[in-house]
Amino acid sequence: MKKLLITAVIFFTAVTLFSFSNYKSINANGFSNDSLEAAKQMYVDQINGYIAGKENMASDSVFKDIEMLKGVPAEHLLKIMQNGFSTALGVGCDHCHNTSDFASNEKNAKQIARKMMEMSGQIRDLLSNIKEIQSDKPTINCTTCHRGEIVPALKIRN
Ligand code: HEC
Ligand code: HEC
Repeated sequence: MKKLLITAVIFFTAVTLFSFSNYKSINANGFSNDSLEAAKQMYVDQINGYIAGKENMASDSVFKDIEMLKGVPAEHLLKIMQNGFSTALGVGCDHCHNTSDFASNEKNAKQIARKMMEMSGQIRDLLSNIKEIQSDKPTINCTTCHRGEIVPALKIRN
C-alpha cells in the first residue's frame, strides 16, 4: 500500500513537472509557441504549394494585392511574413489575414502593417541622416519596437 502511494506521488510529481516545462513555451500573447509555429508553417507550406514553379517571380506577379513589397521574390515574401512580421509581433498569420483569402484587406492589422512598413522606411531615412552614428548602416525593423509583442513596451519589465 505504501509502495503504491510512493509510486503515485512520483507519478503526479512527474506529470506536474512535465506540464510546467510545457508552460515555458507559452508566449506573451498566451499561445503555445509550438502550435503557433506549426500553424504558420502549415499556411506557408500550403501557399508554397500553390505558387510552385513561381517562387522566384516578383510577388506582385504571383500574388493578388501587393502594394509595398513589389519586386520581392514570392518565396521571400513568405519568409518575411513568417520570420519577420509574425515573429516580430508574436502572432499567427490570422492576426492580419483572413486565412482563407490572404489577399483580402478586411483585417485592420494588415492595413496597419503596410503603414508600419512605410513608417519604418521613414525612420531608416532619418537614422541615415544622423552622421555621428558610428555603425556602417544603422537600421531598424519590426522587431526593433515590437520584440515579440503586439503593443511595443514603454518600459523595461522583469
Ligand atoms: C503583421 C501583419 C501580417 C502578418 C502577421 C502576416 N502578414 Fe501576410 N501580409 C501582410 C501585408 C501587409 C501584406 C501585403 C503586403 C504588400 O502590400 O506589399 C501581406 C501579404 C501576404 C500575402 C499575399 C496575398 C495576396 O495574394 O496579395 C500572402 C500570401 C501572405 N501575406 C501570407 C502570410 C502568411 C502565410 C503569414 C503567416 C506566416 C502572414 N502572411 C502573416 C501582413 C501580415
Ligand atoms: C518605431 C517603432 C515601431 C516599428 C519599427 C514598428 N512598429 Fe508596429 N507599432 C508600433 C506602435 C507604437 C504601435 C501601436 C501599439 C498600440 O498602442 O496599440 C504599433 C502597432 C502595430 C500594429 C497594430 C497592432 C494590432 O493591434 O494589431 C501592427 C499590425 C504593427 N504595428 C505591425 C508592424 C510591422 C509589420 C512592422 C514592421 C514592418 C512594425 N509594426 C514596425 C511601433 C512600431
